Amino acid sequence: MSPSHRTQWDVVPDGVVVVTGGASGIGRALAERFAREGARAVVVADLSEAAAQTVAAGLDCTQAMGIGLDVTDGVAVDSATERIEAELGAITLWCSNAGVALGDGLGGDDDWERSWHVHVQAHIHVARSVLPRMSGRGRGHLMITASAAGLLTNMDSAPYSVTKHGAVALAEWLAIRHGDAGIGVSCLCPQGVRTPMTDRPDSGSATRAAGGFLEPPDVADAVVAALTESRFLILPHPEVAEYERRRAVDRDRWLTGMRRMWAKISG
Ligand SMILES: NC(=O)c1ccc[n+]([C@@H]2O[C@H](COP(=O)([O-])OP(=O)(O)OC[C@H]3O[C@@H](n4cnc5c(N)ncnc54)[C@H](O)[C@@H]3O)[C@@H](O)[C@H]2O)c1
Repeated sequence: MSPSHRTQWDVVPDGVVVVTGGASGIGRALAERFAREGARAVVVADLSEAAAQTVAAGLDCTQAMGIGLDVTDGVAVDSATERIEAELGAITLWCSNAGVALGDGLGGDDDWERSWHVHVQAHIHVARSVLPRMSGRGRGHLMITASAAGLLTNMDSAPYSVTKHGAVALAEWLAIRHGDAGIGVSCLCPQGVRTPMTDRPDSGSATRAAGGFLEPPDVADAVVAALTESRFLILPHPEVAEYERRRAVDRDRWLTGMRRMWAKISG
């Protein structure tokens, strides 16, 4: 089949799928869903090798692997790519999903540095490592998990919001520069999802005020639908499209509305 006749979904059946941040929350739901959808191999990559292996052990697929990987370490990302391709075959889908919720308000320098490395630099490491391989084969897909905070804003944390905007911008750049090489790129931008990241008493007031929390399997449903329809932007909360439109049409009006909401939830 020529690349133009494929849908992005073709990377899943019989494919080799990698999910970073796969030991928890959204990443775990993605790994479980891709295993059930017929991926030949699913690799769960996370900071904790033990946690990744526990999730991998429960996957319903022919081959599952759990690996310890710090996605901010470019050398480690490249070694993981080498190892996975040597042991399991060509990677067809990489979900660059690991994330951290750091920084209250403007945050500290450490919050900015860590958020930058996990939310932007990590995707660059993956792109450098896997996209040339995928281009060479004319087959492959990179999905970057950003956030609705990367399209709109997250009023609680500037480091989170700004670095997620960076993740969206990078995903768009990659889609433009690599989209004609038989490679798919997509960007997942959920609002609130009930995961360990948000299931804490100190998790953001703005995230909780946005309401409409989804469960991780709902996000996996949205990812499967978007891959099937070859869509770049994946919005598990469809209302985010309308919020983004309003922001683009009248930025001052949007900012006034956001200030009003912040006054309500922080007052
Ligand atoms: N939960 C939400 O409401 C929500 C909303 C929008 C976007 N997101 C994004 O979705 C993604 C998944 O978040 P989640 O809610 O499932 O959170 P989670 O905390 O349940 O899972 C995040 C996983 O990423 C891993 N991780 C963190 N830093 C890492 C690193 N340097 N290397 C490897 N793994 C690392 C963690 O160990 C954890 O297992 C994140 O990128 C997050 O920013 C979450």
